[in-house]
Amino acid sequence: NEVAKESLRSPICCIMGHVDTGKTKLLDCIRGTNVQEGEAGGITQQIGATYFPAENIRERTKELRPDAKLKVPGLLVIDTPGHESFSNLRSRGSNLCDIAILVVDIMHGLEPQTVESLNLLRKRNTEFIVALNKVDRLYGWKTCKNAPIEKALALQSKDVVIEFNMRLTHVITQFKEQGLNTEIYYKNKEMGDTFSIVPTSAISGEGIPDLLLYLVMWSQKTMVEKLTFVDKVQCTVLEVKVIPGHGTTIDVILVNGVLHEGDQIVACGSQGPIITTVRSLLTPHPMKELRVKGTYLHHREVKAAQCMKITAQGLEHAVAGTSLHVIGPDVDIEEAKKTAMED
Ligand code: GTP
Ligand code: MG
Ligand code: NA
Repeated sequence: NEVAKESLRSPICCIMGHVDTGKTKLLDCIRGTNVQEGEAGGITQQIGATYFPAENIRERTKELRPDAKLKVPGLLVIDTPGHESFSNLRSRGSNLCDIAILVVDIMHGLEPQTVESLNLLRKRNTEFIVALNKVDRLYGWKTCKNAPIEKALALQSKDVVIEFNMRLTHVITQFKEQGLNTEIYYKNKEMGDTFSIVPTSAISGEGIPDLLLYLVMWSQKTMVEKLTFVDKVQCTVLEVKVIPGHGTTIDVILVNGVLHEGDQIVACGSQGPIITTVRSLLTPHPMKELRVKGTYLHHREVKAAQCMKITAQGLEHAVAGTSLHVIGPDVDIEEAKKTAMED
């Protein structure tokens, strides 16, 4: 039975993995941005978020599957740091997502934070797909810009294909040692029991169409219940930031429900509950990273799933990683305060 498109929210996808496997670069490749090159030391140190509208995903995947039906409004992707010192941020990201991408560098195989991320995902039974990234680094790789991966592989020399298969087999064995069955996605007949691997390059874009299409098709096929829009607001604070001209703002992920300008909200504060009123709801442009300074779009209301910046008074002591609550007409303020501080 067909689910009306309006009733599904965008899936939230977290991108995780060991440091420098190319998580941010993969997102740059899809966005057409240069966020990674602007990072201090090339290291991600914050959670990021980007909204990809379905029409952009459609455009990027039409060569692979021109007739694919996208039923979700888009995809909200959360970027996390891979450096070992940020396990709290990986945990925060993995707690928010419906589905995940676990990035593995094809030249390195599984690394410590690959395993750490894998275990976070398993703890919550989160479905994920493995992006086996940096295929362009295989010796002799012929660039096939933004091509579906099977097309790109078909153009490679015999030696490249041999090296690719050897490294792929090695990674599959390493996952097996972690108790996980994996297979390259177009040969995976047991989706659900066996996790899929999509080879990618964040530099030349091979495999990106496959990655995007798989994420969308898989989530809209298997997570209809989870992705069905509900009115009750579910919202998490990612970061608390001072922005010139806006004062202290909070970056949030709206997982479900609708937020409005003027909503009365309760946030968890380090010095007690914060009750305030939403002054403005600001989103980055579609396909732009929330954590990078840029121009914001103002909204009267924002429907989940989305990432946005909220400006309001009194947010100085808000605590990142906690939930935000909306005080509706029939909500008891004292109860709301208590719930807010439970995080
Ligand atoms: P952290 O967020 O710090 O954990 O790293 P990351 O996983 O986001 O990796 P990042 O995007 O910072 O990329 C790390 C380095 O690998 C950069 O120098 C990228 O240019 C390079 N890189 C990423 N993806 C690819 C790829 O597909 N091919 C090649 N050749 N280099 C890549
Ligand atoms: Mg990064
Ligand atoms: Na990096």
